Amino acid sequence: MEEEIKIYQDSDSLCQGFTNFILKLLEVYPHMNISLSGGTTPKAIFDYWAAHSRDVIPWEKITFFWGDERCVPPENDMNNYGMARDHLFSKVPEIMSKNIRRIHGESEPDEEAERYGSILQRKLLQYDNMPCFELVMLGLGDDGHTVSIFPDQIDQWNEKKVCIVTEHPVSKMKRVGLSGTVVNNAQYIAFLVMGKGKAKMVKDIIKDRELYYDKYPAARVHPKQGYLYWFMDAEAASEL
Ligand code: 6PG
Repeated sequence: MEEEIKIYQDSDSLCQGFTNFILKLLEVYPHMNISLSGGTTPKAIFDYWAAHSRDVIPWEKITFFWGDERCVPPENDMNNYGMARDHLFSKVPEIMSKNIRRIHGESEPDEEAERYGSILQRKLLQYDNMPCFELVMLGLGDDGHTVSIFPDQIDQWNEKKVCIVTEHPVSKMKRVGLSGTVVNNAQYIAFLVMGKGKAKMVKDIIKDRELYYDKYPAARVHPKQGYLYWFMDAEAASEL
């Protein structure tokens, strides 16, 4: 696995670096199916794109999907699509609705996992008979979860299904998201991690991935054919 670690002094320079990374890929790919991460970290990217990249990114060359969604309606503050709508789509009219393929958090989770999985099978290139994203963006929980696959359900990572239903260990809120099999099928995977709270987890995963393979789902991120990038601020990288 090719792994590249990019460290930035602050959020703005990380967003600029990540945007340049995507622009470079868009020089090569005629179209990119990108799986967006959820939580709060991507907010900075979406705000940056809305403020600085409206006329820079060829939006028509991107279709946005999600790596995971909380099983609540878009109006709920916890909904990942709702956050992207408020911070990006509502501010960049150049992004056409046909290029936004959200997970329906308001639907019955198992049915939605089936529905979304069949969309990915139909719309994405296939590799090893599984959907292949050009780019999967990932966040990192301070407990080592990613794409809403949590340590206490780590075996769900290796599900052969395209999409799975998981559950937050504390809130018990259900989530629909990609299986680890689909995450690792991507051509490029990019972790976006900010803040001191993630520093120890970042170190454990980058320095001792094998040691934590059975403990942290994020330690199982290992693109089969592609490249793994880390875009981090200095705080998140402070224990490397
Ligand atoms: C989710 C996320 C999740 C997230 C991490 C980091 O829906 O919960 O996709 O995997 O990326 O929890 O979240 P923060 O960016 O808020 O720290």
